Amino acid sequence: MTENDAIPSMPRYINKDAIDAAQPLVRSDDQRKIETICQPLHISNNAAHVVEKRILACVEQGLSQEHHEKSSIRCFPTYVQSLPTGKESGAYLAVDLGGTNLRVMLVTLFGSRFEAPEISLQHFQVPENVKKSAGNAVFQYIVNCIAEFLGKEGITKSNLPLGFTFSFPCEQRGLTSAILTRWTKGFDCPDVVGQDVCVMFNKALSERQDISVELKVLINDTAACVVSSVWRRKSCRIGLIVGTGCNACYLEQIENIELWDEAERQRHPFSVINTEWGAFGEYGELDFILTEWDRAVDKASSNPGEHIFEKMTSGLYLGEVVRTILLTLVDKRLAFRSTKVDNLRKNGAFSTTHVCQIEQDPIGEFRRCKLALAEALGHKDQIEEEDCYTVRYVCEEVTRRACMLLGAGIAALARKMDFGELVIGVDGALFRNHPLFYSIMKKKITQLMGADFEFELVQSREGSGFGAALMAAVLANQ
Ligand code: GLC
Repeated sequence: MTENDAIPSMPRYINKDAIDAAQPLVRSDDQRKIETICQPLHISNNAAHVVEKRILACVEQGLSQEHHEKSSIRCFPTYVQSLPTGKESGAYLAVDLGGTNLRVMLVTLFGSRFEAPEISLQHFQVPENVKKSAGNAVFQYIVNCIAEFLGKEGITKSNLPLGFTFSFPCEQRGLTSAILTRWTKGFDCPDVVGQDVCVMFNKALSERQDISVELKVLINDTAACVVSSVWRRKSCRIGLIVGTGCNACYLEQIENIELWDEAERQRHPFSVINTEWGAFGEYGELDFILTEWDRAVDKASSNPGEHIFEKMTSGLYLGEVVRTILLTLVDKRLAFRSTKVDNLRKNGAFSTTHVCQIEQDPIGEFRRCKLALAEALGHKDQIEEEDCYTVRYVCEEVTRRACMLLGAGIAALARKMDFGELVIGVDGALFRNHPLFYSIMKKKITQLMGADFEFELVQSREGSGFGAALMAAVLANQ
């Protein structure tokens, strides 16, 4: 073989027309520099596999008597041990406190899963001062929202059964007893930690003579997601929330739940376990892939050092991670060289909603991207398309990493359950509003579990509230 055969010869004819049709906007040496800087965000197959194994190990520890307290994945039993059959009927109230919004919902069920339930719903935006107040103020706020809803709907029925979705880590002692272990997602009302949330809620209820509801169950949003998904699809066994926060629950066989004593274990074949996997990484399990940007976002959060996995995968944080990376690129003069970026230096200036918007544009078009950037930068000055490409690239890297990590988490739970075929109910605004989350996660789970593994990711809408109302129905009918 001569040297000329090995190296493809240069084309004799240069297709100028085709080349003129499009020119790269990001100079390739800048692009390379940006890629090198962002390289730490890339999760290799090997890293994803390591994360999967470590999550599985922490789940095992969380379930065990000996290691439960020290596991970053606590695996709290939820006491949800009966699931809906589809035959539930009647009217039930749900109140759902999870993050950005509080929702109150009245659900009327008609005794068949083929008959659509009637749902009326009201959203309330939880004021920032309530998120960081005394516990009494939080529960009074919730009860006031319930009263407003009942008044608006003209509901006067007494002892209306209520399901309360409370999406924060709780050590449950029963269906209506839950000790808050910590706040997450920007809430910080220190006097509630270590207290029974149900007692505080009931106290606030008893102070209002004008409403008559009966708390039937306190439930985490992941468990509510499973309950609502099972109502539609019997084979659902995992509930995943990818919203303001991130967490998963799954059905565990009772003999594997060491936390419960023998007597408790005899009663039911399974319990839904709230993994609280958002806390994974607190004991260094994710240090090998944490970046300087993750550390900065964690440090500036309301709960530094806690819920590390959540900060790499959920809506409250992904925008912040992107913003922090963009600032690095700005400081290295690789982005926004001719645009004012002072506003971008403010915490929270770039949100995960912006990330979702930006990734919705077709490649090469930046209509949504420019709108999002005008908001984030706080001005409508012309934005170079070169910068739009860069911003989109960073958004994609951050969401891809989140999907990889979530895929690893789901793979770990799937192995724990050893199921041949699995339905996973998923809820949360990030999963719903991001155009690619579903497909990237699906692909990653397939890669990690192998092509023979059969599973479905099924979106559950308003599952948090609906699941709580359904659970109240299951209990009321028992
Ligand atoms: C946070 C909470 C958890 C909840 C999740 C999703 O991680 O600690 O309880 O399920 O957010 O809302």
